[in-house]
This record gives sequence, C-alpha cells and structure tokens, in this order.
Amino acid sequence: MSPSGVLALLIVSFCAISSLRATATQVTYDDRAIVIDGKHRVLVSGSIHYPRSTAQMWPDLMKKSREGGLDAIETYVFWNAHEPARRQYDFSGNLDLIRFLKTIQEEGLYAVLRIGPYVCAEWNYGGFPVWLHNMPGIQMRTDNDVFKNEMQNFTTLIVDMVKKENLFASQGGPVILAQIENEYGNVMSSYGDEGKAYMNWCANMAQSLDIGVPWIMCQQDDAPEPIISTCNGWYCDQYQPPRSNIPKMWTENWTGWYKNWGGKDPHRTAEDLAFAVARFYQLGGTFQNYYMYHGGTNFGRSAGGPYITTSYDYDAPLDEYGNLNQPKWGHLKQLHDLLHSMEDILTTGNVSYVDLGDSAFGTIYSKDGGSSCFLANVDPGNDKAINFQGMNYTVPAWSVSILPDCQNVAYNTAKVSTQTSVMVKKANAAEEEPNSLKWSWRPEMNEKTILLGKGDVTTDQILDQKEAANDLSDYLFYITSLDLKKDDPVWSHNMTLRVKSSGQILHAFVNGELIGSQWAKNGGERFVFEQNNYGAFFDTAPSGITGPVELIGYRGDDETIVKDLSSQKWSYKTGLEGLNQKLYSSPSLKWQQDSFPVNRTLTWYKSSFKAPLGTDPVVVDLLGMGKEGDCKLEPCDYRGSYDSNKCLSNCGRPSQRWYHVPRSFLNGNGDNTLVLFEEFGGNPSSVNFQTVAVGSACINAEENRKIELSCQGRQISAVKFASFGNPQGSCGSFVKGYCEGSKDASSVVEKACVGQESCTIDVSEDTFGSTTCGDDVIKTLAVEAIC
Ligand code: GAL
Repeated sequence: MSPSGVLALLIVSFCAISSLRATATQVTYDDRAIVIDGKHRVLVSGSIHYPRSTAQMWPDLMKKSREGGLDAIETYVFWNAHEPARRQYDFSGNLDLIRFLKTIQEEGLYAVLRIGPYVCAEWNYGGFPVWLHNMPGIQMRTDNDVFKNEMQNFTTLIVDMVKKENLFASQGGPVILAQIENEYGNVMSSYGDEGKAYMNWCANMAQSLDIGVPWIMCQQDDAPEPIISTCNGWYCDQYQPPRSNIPKMWTENWTGWYKNWGGKDPHRTAEDLAFAVARFYQLGGTFQNYYMYHGGTNFGRSAGGPYITTSYDYDAPLDEYGNLNQPKWGHLKQLHDLLHSMEDILTTGNVSYVDLGDSAFGTIYSKDGGSSCFLANVDPGNDKAINFQGMNYTVPAWSVSILPDCQNVAYNTAKVSTQTSVMVKKANAAEEEPNSLKWSWRPEMNEKTILLGKGDVTTDQILDQKEAANDLSDYLFYITSLDLKKDDPVWSHNMTLRVKSSGQILHAFVNGELIGSQWAKNGGERFVFEQNNYGAFFDTAPSGITGPVELIGYRGDDETIVKDLSSQKWSYKTGLEGLNQKLYSSPSLKWQQDSFPVNRTLTWYKSSFKAPLGTDPVVVDLLGMGKEGDCKLEPCDYRGSYDSNKCLSNCGRPSQRWYHVPRSFLNGNGDNTLVLFEEFGGNPSSVNFQTVAVGSACINAEENRKIELSCQGRQISAVKFASFGNPQGSCGSFVKGYCEGSKDASSVVEKACVGQESCTIDVSEDTFGSTTCGDDVIKTLAVEAIC
C-alpha cells in the first residue's frame, strides 16, 4: 500500500507656500510660435515628475533647471497615486502637486501640466488606478461611459485644484499649457470608430474645463481645433504640424532612456542631444521639452512596465540625485542661452532654407536688416567643408553650427567646451560608524501556517493578478493543494511543474520547499514575459499567473503525462507578511541575531546606521544582493541616429547597485533603520551607505572661449593635468601633444582655480603663452582638476 502524498503548491508572483498672485498672462499661438503676452517665444522646457523626487529636492531642482536655461517645467499627473481607492485622494508629501507648481512659480519658471490621465511614463499601470480595471462594464481609453465618467471626474478635480490656487497663466500662475491623453494617436486605430469618438470627447471635455491656456495632445495629428498636436521622439526636426495654423512643438525629446532589470545603463551623448535640439529650432520649432530633465527615482511601488528599475535616472541633464550631469547640462545651457538671444528673429523673421548638397543644409532667418543662420551637416560619418554666403566653414559630422550674425560660429553641437564631471561615491563619514553594518534577520514566511493552503479568497479557477490583488501589493500567493496518489498516471520520479505566467518574477514552492524561481530578463523570456504600459488594450493584458499550471510526469522513453491543475480550488493571499505587519516600524516584532543566513530566498534583513555627515546626496550600496544584467560593450560614437541600444554601459554588473536615499528620509542626529527584503538570495554583509559628489572635473575646449571649472559646491583642491596646445586623450587619461604654450599651463590653472569653488579661464595664447603649433592646428586646453 502506498500512502497518498499531499502536495501543497505555493506560487508567488511579482508583477510588477503661499499663493503668489500675479497679473494674468495671456498665452496664445499662431502658425509660428507660442505667444506669451504678445511675444513670440522660443521655449525650452524639461520634464520633472514630482513623485520621482522629494518636496525637499524641488527648490534645488528648479534652480538648476532655470540656471540650465529652461523656461518651463513639465510634469505628468499620476492618477493612481492621487486616487489609490475610488474617491479617496492623496496629495500629501511628494504627491503635493500644488506645492510643486508653486515651487516652479517661485523660481520664475512656467509649467506644462500633462494631466493625461493615462500617462505611460514607465509608471505602474501607466498611471491608471487598478480599481478602475475592476469596475463592471469598463473599457479604458475608448468611448465607454464608465471610463469617461471616471476620467472626467479626475481631470476636473485636478483642473479645479489648480484653478482654486490661481495657478493657470490666465490667472497669473505658471501653467502655460495643459495636456489631455498621451500619444493616443499611436494606438487609436485599434479602437475603431469608438477610438476616434473617444479622442473627440477628450478634446471637448478638456476644452469645456475653460482653463484659459491652450490644450495640447501629443502624437495626435487629428486633434481638433483649437487643440495643438505635438511630436514625441529622439528627433522631431522633420516633423510637420498637421494643421497650418499651429506651431511646431516637441513634448518629449528623450535625453537618454529608462533602465530595465537585467539591462544596462543607457547613455545619450550631449553632442547628439544638442544636435537634435539645434536641428529642431533650425527648422522652425517654438517649444521643445526634455523628457526627462531630471528622471529621479521610482519610490515605493511606482515602477511600471517594461520591468523598470528603481532608478529612473534616464541619463538626464540633472542626475537621479539632483547633481548636474556634466557635460550634458552645461552643453545644453550654452545652446539654450544662444537660442533665447535669437528668439525674436527665429519666431518672427523671414526664413529661407538652402540645400547645400551632400547632406549639408543652411537656414537664414532675417528681420529688420539683421540675420541669423544655422549650418547643419547631417552626414553621420564625414566632416564637411562648406562654402556658405561666400565664407568657408568646417562643420563636423552630425552637427549644427549656429551663427547669430550669419558670419561667426558661436556654437557647434559637436564641440563640447563644458566640463565633464566624474562623480564618485564616498564611504559614510558619520562619526563612530563601524566599517560594516550589524544585521539581524527574519524569514518572510512562516512555512507551517502558509503551507496549509488557505489564502484570503478561494476560487475554482486561476485569477488574474489585477483582479485578485487589486493592486494592494505587487506580491500575490497562488495556493492550491491536491491529493496525489502513487498510482496517479502523472506520478513519476522526475515530475516537473509547468506554469504559464505573465508576472515578472515567480517563485514556486512544493510542500514548503522552494523548487525554483524565474524572472524576466530585459525584454522578457519564455517562462515569464514583461508587462508593458504601452499599446492599445495594454490595460487588459494578463498579469500574474495566467495558467495553465500543470504537473508533468515522465514515463518510459518519450511519454509525458500532463495533469492540469488550473481548475483546482485556488486560494490567494495578497502581499508580504513583512509589509502587512509593517516590520520596518514595529519594535515589538522579533528579529534573529544568530544563524544569520546568506543566499536565502524571501528573507528580511535589518540594520541600523548613522546618516552620513554633510549635505551630499546619500545612496545605499546593495552590493551582494540579487539581480544582475549583461550586455556587449561597444565604443560610443555620438554620430548617427541615437536609439536605446546605443552607447550602453555597466555590462555584466548588477542592473542597479546604488539606491538613492533622499536626505529627508534620514534622521540626521540619531539612528536610522534599514530594512531589506531579499527575494532571490543574497549576502548583505557588504551593504553600506555612501555619499555622491564630484570627484574630478575635466575640460577639453578650443581656444578663444571662456571656460568654467566647478566642483559644484566644494573646493577645487589640485590640478592633475593641464596643457594648452594639442593635448590628446580624454578625461582621466590626457597626455601632452607635440606643441604647448610657453607658460606652464598647470601653474596658470592652479593659480586661477585651486581653493575656489569655481573658476573661469580664457582659453588663449594671452593666458597660456604663444605656441609653436602652427596655424593649421586648432589649439585646445585640456584640464583635469581634482575636487
Ligand atoms: C513615450 C511616453 C512617455 C514615456 C516614453 C518613454 O512614448 O509618452 O510617457 O513612456 O515614451 O520613456
């Protein structure tokens, strides 16, 4: 007699200031430009999403944005964050949209409010609350009354809040533009006639809210009057506005890209980004927005698909911590300042375009006897000698030269004269902080109780994770148990379990034993695939375990027996015990000091630490914990069209090692508690806190310009390298060339810079002495300074 075995199956799946009253500002537009109080504008804007930073960071981010030459800050509004349960609202802390808009206003910037409320943005469920999905009869983003009522309710709520605080420009506030929907034109045809009807409804609904400033829709060529359709993409220079009476606008110029788990670090060069911007204004643009200007951090459960890391740095001009990402920030600042100085002629002058042949294009803007010119070389490989209006110019490959007087080149997008900052991480310098943290731990599961197979809800089929968990957690336990007798056809020695899942991570337990874990690699894979935020009907795509769940038995040579468990009784338990019990803040819960485990799945670790001294941004280094990525390292060439597979770095290392811990999260004087949850198995003994700051600053600039070196708030302590002439190499590996100025460049730079927070240097023979380089060598200054 063989006893019957009880098989308990447990599967976890992870899816992912007061009102400043000013006079009203009139915002209108014509076919050339956005017009503010009668003035035609060249507007440069940058996206910063308020919940991806902290309210304490906002003033500094805005200040650095204004100093970087921005006119406006753009943000989405995140519906699921504000209405986590139907008609229950949250605008507290980092969700304080009104405070964010007021901070923008206090810095003298305009705001662009992209209400959506579908936003995409690599945000959880594209910004839709999951309860919406669970409303009877709902169909999202189409002509469906249930959805439209909810969308109108939320959009009206936001507009009313902003109005009440007088924050629209028409009321004297900063908001000059508002957006409804997001890139709906890209997916509309999949919704048939109802898609078109919905789009028109969106336009009418928005218009009826009477905000006194223009509404925009992005990627919506058929947006009805008076709504302006705008372009999104890496490049929008070739974009033509779909109606003759609207200006050329670019709402998303992607400054880098998002990062996936298992993926690598994206990088878009300063040269290519500046090229894209200069081409856009060369060809008649009035407004362009960097997506992102500061990407920030996906705190909490906000990260969405496709399988996005906690960092949303985006290689943006301001990095995740709010530091200047140099040379990107500075190279673009010079471009913005120049474009603004040409604002009137660019937006009201006569324009003529000249095809100079061989991938070279000139543009001449003229007005009142004056003129300003652009010279582009869009050849991705070859520099060009161009004769333009009787003068000779060399325009590097894939670059634009700007000549504000049509004679002298004031800026070329491929010639970066701004410093490169090398950021370094420093050990926690808090007093009495030991070298390594002291840890205690707790298992997530009490195997004895949970494996009895009782969850909160029981059904006869496998439920979609959105329906079963209702977004209360990213974790859902699918539990079933069955009597399996040895005479069951499926019974064999090497039985396997096959699960079809669309969750991003899955751990499978049988009778309390972990039998395996799988997670989506960058781009998804056979076992589990990534959940996207994008495309028609993305909201109804399956999540969690889709089924079937099968036991596979093997007999003889090739014979397999499949036992389908999909219509077993399944019960569900939402969330992690540790989070449900708030173990990060409950002092009464027991933690173990002994038999400290490494490489144990689903384990909590706890430690205490002192906040690092000073004001530099803080990160926690999670070296030793789970999640890795791989890629192929190739040299980065700024030339040619950028896409997210170009110029990658961080191959073969953990996809994310450092996590931003905003200063406002920390208790400056006393102890702080760190609680980590390790899903796959890791070793926390190397985990530690660090600060991020500029380690060194490098310049490589041509003669006849003023350069600035800065250690961003700390002093320049030494000059490691300086040479004026034809130095070679790049930051960290500069070497002298065959010719040099007669003065000792190092002592010139030391005298000007050491002991200062920043210094300016005239790159010329006057400063560095005459050289023997000869006339056909363009002399450059290379400096590496230590902060
Ligand atoms: C766009 C979308 C943004 C963001 C971006 C990629 O298509 O509108 O919300 O998702 O792609 O970062």
